[in-house]
Amino acid sequence: MKVIVTKNYEEASDVMFKEMKEYLVAGKVLGLATGSSPLGLYARMVDDHKKNGTSYKDIKTFNLDEYVGLPITHPESYYAFMHTNLFNHIDIPEENTHVPSGLGEDLEGQALAYDKMIEENPIDIQVLGIGSDGHIAFNEPGTPFDSITHVTDLLEPTIKDNARFFDFDMNKVPHQAVTQGIATIMRAKKIILIATGENKAEAVKAMVEGEIQEACPASILQKHDNVVVVVDESAAKLLNR
Ligand code: GLP
Repeated sequence: MKVIVTKNYEEASDVMFKEMKEYLVAGKVLGLATGSSPLGLYARMVDDHKKNGTSYKDIKTFNLDEYVGLPITHPESYYAFMHTNLFNHIDIPEENTHVPSGLGEDLEGQALAYDKMIEENPIDIQVLGIGSDGHIAFNEPGTPFDSITHVTDLLEPTIKDNARFFDFDMNKVPHQAVTQGIATIMRAKKIILIATGENKAEAVKAMVEGEIQEACPASILQKHDNVVVVVDESAAKLLNR
């Protein structure tokens, strides 16, 4: 696990883009994440597309997760998030983008089909953030390391953290999600994770230096042979450096 410490969020986003840039070529499969952490990276991808003409026509994307029950037109659905912050501003064909569906009768069946699709289109580079409780995608503490894409209940710290997107009302935050599993994420050939701000410091320490255990889902990344963790000074403040 390579850890890069930057001065601030802007510099962290520059490093994320540098890691991503060589993958922005025809034939690559990108694994994408939501949350506020990757916004700087997506802004840089849009800029690069506009200024340098980098094309996404032959690139495919797979997102990590989606809330259960939110219509895709809801501004806080991860489908809408990805379109607003990235897909609408680059030349990627809609059919090349994939966000798991949180709607429908057979969510578990759909989740399995999504996992299969990723198996058939192996992810070259996966973008990750981290929750303050150490979750990755929506794999909450206690999720088995061998899990694949599945439906999950969100835990209170995550509902609380995400209430800021739902008028600070925990009741408006969906309590379930569909998420790539930990084993699914670990299949990506390369992983780049961004964490900034003091409220990520404990999770970052547990991920980088803690015991590899299901209580801290992100700790499994220590076992992946191609991970770059990009953190700012505040998120890195508990690390032994
Ligand atoms: C959500 C997402 C995660 C993300 C996390 C942190 O729970 N499912 O993929 O990493 O939030 O979000 P933020 O980057 O806004 O702190």
